[in-house]
Amino acid sequence: MTNVAADLVKEGTTELFVYKKKTSAKGPSTRDQTPFYNPSMELNRDVSILVNQWFLNASTKHVHILDGLAASGIRGIRLAHELNGDFEVTINDWNDQSFSLIQQNIQKSSLQNISVFQRDLNGLLSERRYNSIDIDPFGSPVYFIDAAVRSVYNKGIIACTATDTAALCGVFPKVCYRRYGAWPLHGPAMHEIGLRILLGCLCREAAKYDRGIEPLLCYTTDHYVRLYVQINNGKDAANTSMAQFFSISARDVPLSKENTALVGPLWLGKLQKKPVLQEIRTILSTKELNTKNMLWKLLYLLEEEADAPPFFYTTNDLSSLLKQSPPTMDHIFENLRNKGFIVTKTHCTPTGFKTNAPLDVITEVFK
Ligand SMILES: C[S@@+](CC[C@H](N)C(=O)[O-])C[C@H]1O[C@@H](n2cnc3c(N)ncnc32)[C@H](O)[C@@H]1O
Repeated sequence: MTNVAADLVKEGTTELFVYKKKTSAKGPSTRDQTPFYNPSMELNRDVSILVNQWFLNASTKHVHILDGLAASGIRGIRLAHELNGDFEVTINDWNDQSFSLIQQNIQKSSLQNISVFQRDLNGLLSERRYNSIDIDPFGSPVYFIDAAVRSVYNKGIIACTATDTAALCGVFPKVCYRRYGAWPLHGPAMHEIGLRILLGCLCREAAKYDRGIEPLLCYTTDHYVRLYVQINNGKDAANTSMAQFFSISARDVPLSKENTALVGPLWLGKLQKKPVLQEIRTILSTKELNTKNMLWKLLYLLEEEADAPPFFYTTNDLSSLLKQSPPTMDHIFENLRNKGFIVTKTHCTPTGFKTNAPLDVITEVFK
């Protein structure tokens, strides 16, 4: 074990040891020899608590949750400590120092519903099956998706984070194409496109095994993309999913500066399941979480945009296109709604809005 002293932190209602490298609650963390811990991912872990509690509430059988890339074990130990229901958690990390820190944290917690492995995640997933699988890698989760799709039980959940946003958002399009087999698009909607590319990749991998995907809760931030998807068995489920997986032209993405480029293939179905978000909001009111205020806002926005069409406009990009200063969001919303169009905010950016109105109507409203 490392000679550096570990720090005691508290997330949710769980206390455990981690190695703090940064004090800021924003942005990515740094990597060294000690097990990884990034305080800015607390909200990401809090969402895991909420979605897995929803899943347990909806399950009639014993649930087996896997925290597949655990580092300090904070996510898995929090799940074991903060969830209610009939479940157990397996925590896995192949790194020696992570494995001993996880064991130390499990001992400290005196929880009975946890087991720990020091395995290559792909090997573990090839041998065992789980109801809920969490993949939280450095960079891209793509290397674990095939194995996760084979391991997860019918109606189980795959959750994954991708921090390779430079690839997914089109800074390095060839990297995105190699990893995900899809072309990204750098521009106002790049984070949503990145999220849809990752979902598309999951959809494609699942369909090989006659399985379909149903996104439950998916979101993006500047630093990462995160999704929770239910996997459903059957050719029909797979066909229904694959019908929502295709390429589009860049000109179909609002305010794109490119016209001819091909984008995708990517997932063009829904990103959220509204009734699940509504239940998750109720669960949030029962949990002790440090990021509660941010979570209320995030869940509110996800619910608002759940039934809106893909992609969005931003007032600043419209402003530079139309060479006009932007009206207020209220003005835009009221006028588009009065004309009978759908218009919602988006969690992707505070200056963004989603609508089914055509650009000429938006231009008229903008004046
Ligand atoms: C980003 S960290 C996980 C962070 C953690 N989930 C959290 O919430 O704090 C990624 C971890 O994956 C582990 N890892 C990377 N590749 C692996 C593999 N193929 N099998 C098992 N563990 C792996 C690394 O050792 C590292 O600890």
